[in-house]
Amino acid sequence: MTSPSRRRIGVLTSGGDCPGLNAVLRGIFCAAEELGWEVLGFRDGFEGMLPKGGDYMLLNRENTAGIMQVGGTILGTTNKGHFTSKVGGGDKAVIPEDVISRASQTCRDLDLSAVIAIGGDGSMSTALQLYRAGFPIIGVPKTIDNDLEATAMTFGFDSAVACVTDALDRLHTTAASHKRVIVLQVMGRHAGWIALWGGLAGAADAILIPEIPFSLEQVAEFVQRRDEAGFKSTMIVVAEGARTRQGQQFRKQSSNGEWRLGGIGEMLGHEIEARTGKETRVCVLGHLQRGGDPTTLDRILGTRFGVKAVQLAREEKFGTMVSYQNYEVLDVPIADAVHRLKKVPPGNQLVETARAVGICFGD
Ligand code: F6P
Repeated sequence: MTSPSRRRIGVLTSGGDCPGLNAVLRGIFCAAEELGWEVLGFRDGFEGMLPKGGDYMLLNRENTAGIMQVGGTILGTTNKGHFTSKVGGGDKAVIPEDVISRASQTCRDLDLSAVIAIGGDGSMSTALQLYRAGFPIIGVPKTIDNDLEATAMTFGFDSAVACVTDALDRLHTTAASHKRVIVLQVMGRHAGWIALWGGLAGAADAILIPEIPFSLEQVAEFVQRRDEAGFKSTMIVVAEGARTRQGQQFRKQSSNGEWRLGGIGEMLGHEIEARTGKETRVCVLGHLQRGGDPTTLDRILGTRFGVKAVQLAREEKFGTMVSYQNYEVLDVPIADAVHRLKKVPPGNQLVETARAVGICFGD
């Protein structure tokens, strides 16, 4: 047993990666080192807790040096495997007893006094189940979609928005040169935050999000009106999870019970060209939004989240999740973060701002 002052904690990154994960890991290591604690980083999310003795690396000054500015996660991650607790569309699956007991044996063998789980909605559901099974767990919210309830912002989101903005800046010049319509498909399964923020920052002309069902007629008429008014081009940002008024969503294939979205950009491009006669091109931004360096904001938010998670471990406030509210990093019960997703509310001020500058939502 390690002495109370020489504690050992575990950390893992779970679910889809995003810029800022390494900033959190570095923040955790540095804050723990100040306390004289050891930090074990489990590889590939919760999966690293399953092999006998655990599959982990000891975080140290060498392997955490220079990682703040690097995208991805030095620990590896997965959104599949034995701990998958979300099976799509908000449904939850129960983690099998034997998986929980193997993981808890690992925690005992390694003498861990806390486990910090960094992840999104599905990973927080897993963390909650483990907490209820007796794990000393603390959650750190992560998702580029920014759709986690109980935190105003997750790291990774700002970097994804910066990627969308950069893409739009580039697409504007080529669209105007060729007098084309360009449809940019961005991530956002259930929530349109990336499309909304990125679209506003990148001066999109139309933004289509899951929360505001759109009509193809309205979008085509909007493009036509802009053409008649003499605008050279039209830039449309569409979230992958946007749906038509008929409720039609575009799904590509199913993987591990979770369906994958895709195809809405292609459909839109085809329909706009057919209905308006305007030459249209489609760009799917995809995983570019998840890769690359974190922005300044994500580096700072990630560091603050990591430091707060260590504080919570010190206070033994298990079953809580770090949360960003009114510029402060606080904590909330993990249970508050997983009962529903944070979507763009009707009448959201950002939507109203966008409408006020003439952006069309297709409704
Ligand atoms: O949850 C974040 C997200 O980026 C979604 O917007 C997207 O649909 C999904 O992850 C893609 O995940 P992957 O390709 O890693 O399974």
